[in-house]
This record gives sequence, C-alpha cells and structure tokens, in this order.
Amino acid sequence: MRAKRFDIARLGVLTAALALLVVLWPGSAGVSYASSCIDCHSAFDDPEISGPAKKFHDDVHFQKGLSCVDCHGGNASKGYDEGDPDLAHDRKAGFVGAPKTADIPKFCARCHSDIEYMKKYNPKLRVDQYLEYRSSVHGKRLESGDTKVATCVSCHGVHDIMPVKDTRAPVYKTNVAKTCSGCHSNAKYMEPYHIPTNQFDLYSASVHGEKLLKEGDLAAPTCNNCHGNHGATPPGLMSVSNSCGECHANNLEYFNESPHKEAFADLGVGECDACHGHHDVNKTNDTMLGVGDEAICVTCHDQGDPGYQTAAAMATEFDTLKAMLGEARTLLNKAERGGVNVSLGKFDLHTADDALVKARTAVHYFDTSKFNPIIVSGVSATENVMDLGNKAMWDLKLRQIGLGFTLPLVLLVALALYLKIRQIERRKPIP
Ligand code: HEC
Ligand code: HEC
Ligand code: HEC
Ligand code: HEC
Ligand code: HEC
Ligand code: HEC
Ligand code: HEC
Ligand code: HEC
Ligand code: HEC
Repeated sequence: MRAKRFDIARLGVLTAALALLVVLWPGSAGVSYASSCIDCHSAFDDPEISGPAKKFHDDVHFQKGLSCVDCHGGNASKGYDEGDPDLAHDRKAGFVGAPKTADIPKFCARCHSDIEYMKKYNPKLRVDQYLEYRSSVHGKRLESGDTKVATCVSCHGVHDIMPVKDTRAPVYKTNVAKTCSGCHSNAKYMEPYHIPTNQFDLYSASVHGEKLLKEGDLAAPTCNNCHGNHGATPPGLMSVSNSCGECHANNLEYFNESPHKEAFADLGVGECDACHGHHDVNKTNDTMLGVGDEAICVTCHDQGDPGYQTAAAMATEFDTLKAMLGEARTLLNKAERGGVNVSLGKFDLHTADDALVKARTAVHYFDTSKFNPIIVSGVSATENVMDLGNKAMWDLKLRQIGLGFTLPLVLLVALALYLKIRQIERRKPIP
C-alpha cells in the first residue's frame, strides 16, 4: 500500500520534471526546434545539407533561442511536410541562403553591431567586432576582394559557434594559436603574401607559449592579446610594448622613465622587442645584464660609453647582492640543521629575496640612481640575516662547548651510580 503511494508520488514528480524539461528545453518554447528547416535538412545524407542542422544543438545561437531563419530567413513552418524546399527557401519570407565569403562579416554584423538588439540578450557583450574587423589587415583585404583572409566563420566556425568561454570554442584562449596557425603556418596557403609563417612555431616554444599551451596558465598571452581579437594588425614593434605592459606593468613603467625610451624611438628600435623579441620571448636570466658574453647590453653599447659603464655597474651591484644572499642562506640552513630557531632570520631572508626579484624588474630603469636603492634594501636585509645567522652559529658553538663539559660529568655520575648498585647487590644475602 505504502509502496504504491510512493510510486504514484514519484510518478507525479517525474512527470512534472519532464514537463519542465520540455518547456525549458532551448528552442522548444520560444522558437520551435521542430522547424521545417531542421527537420528537412537533418534528413539528408549529404553533409553539406545535413551538417548545419546536426551540429546546431551546441551552437550559442540555438542555445539562446535563435534558429536557422534568424540568420538565413525563409519560412520555418513550410516545406518539410510538402517535401518542397522552395516553400521554405522563400525569398518573399526573407530567405537569403548562405552568404558569400565576402559578405559574411556584414551578415554577422547585422545583429552583432546592433546595440539595441544585442542589449536584449547580453548588455555586456561587445558590439565592435565588425568595426574592428574592418580596420584589420583581414578586413581591408577582404574588402579589396581577397577571400583567403579570415572572416568571422574562419575563427568562430559556423553552425556550432560556441561562446568564447567554452573550452571547445576555437577562440577559447588555449585554442586561439591553433586557429590562427591553420592559415598562418600553412606556407603554401600564405605563399602569395611573402610574410613569415613561423609565428606558431616561435610562439609555442616561447615562455608565453610554454606557460599557456603546456602548463595551462591562462595569464600568459596568445596571438590576440598582442594583435587584438578582431583588429589583427601587426601591433608594430614601436607600440607592442603597450600590449606587453598590459601584463608587465612595472617593466613598461620603468622603461618609459628610462633613457632608452627616447633613444629607441630615435633609433626606430622596438621597445621591449629589442631585448626580448615578440613571438620568441624567452625566459630571462641574470647573465643578460652587464658586459659579459651573454649580456644584451653589449649588443649596442661599446666599452667606454656611459651605457656600458652603467651596465657593468648594475651587474656588479646585482651580483654582490646575489652572492651575499647565497652565503646568508647557507649560514642560516646550517644553524637550522644544528637545531637553532632561525625564524627571524628567515623573515629577513624573504625580504632580501624580494629585493632581488624587484631588482630584476628595476633593471628596466637603466639608471643606477633608481636601481641601486633596491639593491641597498636587499643588502641591508641580507646583513640582518648574516648577523642573525652568525649569532645562531655562536649559540650552537656554545651549546657544543657546554656539552663538552657536561658529558664527562654525566658519565662520571652514571659510573658512580653503577658501582654503588653493585656494592649494594653484593651485600644482599644469597637465599
Ligand atoms: C548565426 C547565423 C547562422 C545560423 C543560425 C545558421 N546559419 Fe547556415 N550559414 C551561415 C553562414 C555564415 C553560412 C556560410 C558559411 C561559409 O560560407 O562558410 C551558412 C551556410 C549554410 C549552408 C551552406 C552549406 C555550408 O555549410 O556552408 C546551409 C545548408 C545552411 N547554412 C543551413 C543552415 C540551417 C539548416 C540552419 C539551422 C539549423 C542554419 N544554417 C543556421 C550562418 C548561419
Ligand atoms: C524540404 C526540405 C528542405 C527544407 C524544408 C529546407 N531546406 Fe534548405 N535546403 C534543402 C536542400 C535539398 C538544399 C540543397 C539544394 C538547394 O540549394 O536547394 C538546401 C539548401 C539550403 C541552404 C544553402 C543553399 C543556399 O541557397 O544558400 C540554406 C542556407 C538553407 N537550405 C537554409 C534553409 C532554411 C533557413 C530553411 C528553413 C526556413 C530550409 N533551408 C528549409 C532542403 C530543405
Ligand atoms: C582572426 C580571428 C577572428 C575573426 C576574423 C573574428 N573573430 Fe570574433 N573573436 C575572436 C577571438 C580570438 C575572440 C575572443 C576574445 C577573447 O578572448 O575574449 C573573439 C570574440 C568574439 C565575440 C565575443 C565578444 C568579444 O568581442 O570578445 C563575438 C561576439 C565575436 N567574436 C564575433 C565576431 C564577428 C561578428 C566577426 C566578424 C565580423 C568576428 N568575430 C571575426 C577571433 C576572431
Ligand atoms: C540574428 C542575429 C545574429 C546573427 C545574424 C549572428 N549572431 Fe552571433 N549572437 C547573437 C546572439 C543573440 C547571441 C547571444 C548573446 C548572448 O546572449 O550572450 C550571439 C552570440 C554569439 C557569440 C558568442 C559570444 C560569447 O562569447 O558569448 C559568437 C562568437 C557569435 N555570436 C558569433 C557570430 C558569428 C560569427 C555570426 C555570423 C556567422 C553571428 N554570430 C551571427 C545574434 C546573432
Ligand atoms: C582563413 C585564414 C586565416 C586565419 C584563420 C587567420 N588569418 Fe591572419 N591573415 C590571413 C591572410 C591571408 C592574411 C593576409 C596576409 C598579408 O596581407 O600579408 C592575414 C594577415 C594577418 C596579419 C597581418 C600580417 C601582415 O602582413 O602585416 C595579422 C597580424 C594576422 N593575420 C593575424 C592573425 C591572427 C592573430 C589570427 C587568429 C586570431 C589570424 N590572423 C587568423 C589569413 C588568416
Ligand atoms: C607577445 C606579443 C605577440 C604574440 C603573442 C603574437 N604576436 Fe604576432 N606579432 C607581434 C609583433 C610585435 C609583430 C610585429 C613584427 C614587426 O612589425 O616586424 C607581430 C607580427 C605578426 C605577423 C606579421 C608577420 C610577421 O611574422 O612579422 C603575423 C602574421 C603574426 N604576428 C601572427 C601571429 C600569430 C598567428 C600569433 C599566435 C600564434 C602571434 N602573432 C602571436 C606580437 C605578437
Ligand atoms: C596577457 C599577458 C601578457 C602579455 C600581453 C605579455 N606577457 Fe610576458 N609573460 C606573461 C606571463 C603570465 C609570463 C610568465 C610569468 C612567469 O613565469 O613568471 C610571462 C613571461 C615573460 C617573460 C619571462 C619572464 C622571466 O621570468 O624570465 C618575459 C621576458 C616577457 N614575458 C616579456 C614580454 C614581452 C616583451 C611582451 C610583449 C611583446 C609580453 N611579455 C607580453 C604575461 C604576458
Ligand atoms: C635594453 C634591454 C631591455 C629592454 C628594452 C627591456 N628589457 Fe626586460 N629585461 C632585460 C634584462 C637584462 C632582464 C634580466 C634581468 C635579470 O634577470 O637580471 C630583463 C628581464 C625582464 C623580465 C623578467 C624579470 C621581471 O621583471 O619579472 C620581464 C618580464 C621583462 N624583462 C619584460 C620587459 C618588458 C615588458 C619590456 C618593455 C616594456 C622590457 N622587458 C624591455 C632587458 C631589457
Ligand atoms: C638596442 C640597442 C641597445 C641595447 C640592447 C641597450 N642599450 Fe642602452 N642605450 C642605447 C642607446 C641608443 C642609448 C642612448 C645613448 C647612447 O647612445 O649611448 C642608450 C643609453 C643607455 C643609458 C644612458 C646612458 C647615458 O647617456 O647616461 C644607459 C644607462 C643604458 N643605455 C644602459 C643599458 C643597459 C644596462 C643595457 C642592457 C640591459 C642596455 N643599455 C642595452 C641602446 C641600447
């Protein structure tokens, strides 16, 4: 009896849930998924005809309640039952068919550049894609009749367009480089343009590519961080530092205050690019600074000029701090292994480590009057560590000396005790 009532209740809930699902299922209430377009197209074997309908489930437009007619026009309630495409492909009902490649940007912009329209769906979504696109090399070339360039569907796909945040989207951060390189790494395809086709190879081996593509660190840039989402133009070596500065803000700020700012502009040399490159930005190391064989400074500065002298001086300061820090760390570790509490020293060590990290960025002042104070703060923290370390070592020594005195004493007492016990035991009568 109880079981039966339970079953009825469960059935009720199930039916309600099903009804809700049917109502909420995208497209089932507002626009009908059962449109003649989808019914007829998905019935075909030819992927050219059925592909769009079959892929459409995952498309953001479908998910948001739009359907074939919103893009292509036509009559979605006719044609399937009659078995006559022409009733659906009705020009009078606004059927425009598939746009030609040259017309695609305008085709998508009809909605995406319409602020009023887009606001109804998502007020936060940008509406400048077409404007930006037209300013890009892609857009300009398309307007002059070159259909090999990227249009909206080359980067976003079509009929299975995903929101940018969807990891399956070709424009999801970790997929962008592959999407661009579909054309840009294809030497044959790009041949008429006489531009390099190594961007992907260089980028994926760079520190940025390693971080993003291998380690999945979304903070690292991909192609569109430097080239714009829709503006695809070479940022120009002179202004690319602004893109770099979006993430490396201090490096840019210090560089802008440095003597190189004006000097590089006069020379027509790329700002960050002159020392780091762009597609091939590598992990840096301390030998880049100074006048050694691997130093970047000596590629432009000759012995005797002020830049050379500053380079040498900065490297010396830097190396001094590094060497001191190394010594201090060894000392502190030794004391800690000896069992002394060194937490205070560790705090100062942290401060000194920080100064070293800051100094690597402060290199970009290219000016000792701004660089040296950071080194000095590091040196002073390191000196604290050394003091604490030396004191800890002295404590350790004292303990060892103390132990030297007490150990024989303890042994002596133990021996006396032993003898005494034996004496007592010998005195006991044997039972
Ligand atoms: C967001 C707009 C949009 C929606 C929605 C849309 N299409 Fe398309 N469709 C296009 C564009 C753009 C092209 C041209 C693609 C190209 O040239 O690469 C196209 C092309 C086509 C083609 C030509 C073959 C092909 O794949 O290029 C067919 C057939 C087609 N669409 C059918 C449909 C059907 C059926 C639906 C609904 C299930 C649909 N489309 C929904 C934009 C859309
Ligand atoms: C009765 C079947 C049928 C119906 C209904 C139907 N189509 Fe088609 N559609 C076809 C066939 C077959 C083709 C390929 C041959 C051709 O171009 O007519 C096609 C081609 C297309 C194309 C690409 C060719 C072109 O003219 O650009 C688009 C886009 C398209 N259909 C959109 C739609 C839309 C939108 C609807 C609903 C309003 C729709 N279809 C309804 C059968 C159908
Ligand atoms: C060269 C490749 C490329 C082309 C061409 C392109 N897009 Fe994009 N689009 C992107 C990338 C990359 C993003 C993602 C940006 C991000 O990470 O936020 C994006 C984002 C978007 C977004 C999300 C909102 C935004 O602006 O960030 C919309 C909408 C969009 N594109 C529409 C279009 C339309 C419409 C066109 C054609 C006029 C177009 N795209 C052409 C690469 C492209
Ligand atoms: C009929 C109007 C219309 C047309 C035409 C249209 N879109 Fe959309 N698109 C929308 C709407 C509405 C959304 C959903 C916006 C939302 O709610 O976030 C959208 C969303 C998108 C998104 C996802 C943005 C994001 O990351 O959230 C992309 C990408 C996109 N469209 C690209 C295109 C491309 C490419 C074309 C041309 C092939 C196109 N759209 C044509 C109306 C349209
Ligand atoms: C469908 C193929 C295709 C795709 C996909 C594509 N591009 Fe292009 N791109 C081209 C062609 C073709 C040119 C024209 C080359 C030229 O004029 O030098 C071009 C030009 C460029 C240029 C200007 C190069 C110059 O000569 O100054 C940049 C920058 C660029 N693309 C970046 C990108 C980025 C970034 C992406 C991905 C978000 C991308 N492209 C996706 C085909 C493509
Ligand atoms: C860290 C910034 C940055 C990233 C990331 C980046 N680029 Fe570039 N790219 C540049 C700069 C700067 C130039 C300009 C070089 C010049 O003017 O000589 C450039 C130039 C180009 C050019 C013109 C031809 C050339 O090689 O000089 C193309 C095409 C291009 N990039 C495509 C891409 C693609 C595709 C990706 C992703 C795989 C990418 N870029 C990633 C900064 C970047
Ligand atoms: C979207 C953000 C972003 C942009 C734009 C960007 N970077 Fe980076 N960069 C990163 C991240 C994240 C890392 C990895 C940080 C790390 O490992 O400490 C990195 C690493 C580096 C490194 C190696 C740092 C080291 O510790 O050795 C250098 C050098 C560098 N970038 C220079 C540049 C230059 C030059 C540009 C412009 C052409 C640029 N970056 C553009 C985010 C960015
Ligand atoms: C004149 C050469 C030069 C220029 C120009 C230059 N850098 Fe550097 N950069 C260096 C040197 C040298 C180091 C290594 C310092 C060290 O490790 O001792 C370095 C280190 C870095 C680091 C790793 C250290 C840190 O700060 O985290 C980043 C990131 C970086 N540079 C970004 C940039 C950016 C962004 C620009 C442009 C605004 C730029 N650099 C311009 C020479 C340069
Ligand atoms: C791409 C070439 C280039 C590179 C690489 C370069 N410099 Fe310079 N630097 C210049 C030019 C040009 C000037 C302007 C004055 C001059 O001609 O010496 C200058 C000026 C300076 C000055 C100001 C000198 C003065 O007149 O007081 C300092 C300091 C300096 N550089 C330090 C460095 C350091 C440190 C490095 C390595 C991290 C470095 N530079 C790498 C080209 C370069």
